Amino acid sequence: MSQSVRVFPSREALAQSFAEMLIRDLDRIEPDHYYTVALSGGSTPEYVFRYLSDNYADRIDWEKLMIFWGDERCVPPEEKDSNYRMAYESLLQNVPIPDTNIFRIRGEDDPALEAKQYAELVGSIVPAFNGVPQFDLMLLGLGEDGHTASIFPDRPDLLTASALYVVAIKPENKQKRITATGRIIINSSKIYYIVTGKGKAAIVSEIIEGKSGAEQYPASRIKPVSGHLVWMLDSEAASLLTK
Ligand code: 6PG
Repeated sequence: MSQSVRVFPSREALAQSFAEMLIRDLDRIEPDHYYTVALSGGSTPEYVFRYLSDNYADRIDWEKLMIFWGDERCVPPEEKDSNYRMAYESLLQNVPIPDTNIFRIRGEDDPALEAKQYAELVGSIVPAFNGVPQFDLMLLGLGEDGHTASIFPDRPDLLTASALYVVAIKPENKQKRITATGRIIINSSKIYYIVTGKGKAAIVSEIIEGKSGAEQYPASRIKPVSGHLVWMLDSEAASLLTK
């Protein structure tokens, strides 16, 4: 399994490196191809999105991107909790990406039906590898309980479910979510965890250093089929790593 850990002195340096990676990748794709990205919710992704808006709005070929989501809260798009709203306000409304390149999960619709329909939509647009849609880039955050996307520790079955998107429930507040399952996540060409802050240092260290008990965390079970997994950490999130 191909994995690398990159530590940055600040979340700004992390965001800049992320932007430069995106530019490099976009420079490499075929003229009539798109670069498919599945976005994540969370405060760290939000920071990176804002950084891209502020510093790279005219330095990235945004029209080459196709935007999807790895998970969404089952709320209308105008609600504060919506991952789509967060991405729209922090990035999508500020960069020249065509609306036709943005495929939000419809959090306002029936969750089970939308999970099915969104999986079909992704399957109809994102090229497949081994019969499963293969995102060029899957962006993931890490919860303090070790969840990623909306795969929470009480639902390890979602890591191996055959469906590509399913309904999940956040244990703390019983909020319904629609989430990508492990099957589509691990099929991505690139899986990028972006994690910052001292609050994540312990769990980052447990997962990356394979400490006993880490297997309880869904984020520790994301092993790319053939792609590359990168941990982008700021120095605080990496502060308990021993190697
Ligand atoms: C969500 C995200 C979730 C998030 C982590 C980390 O919808 O909430 O998909 O997986 O990335 O909870 O969030 P923070 O960066 O805010 O800690």
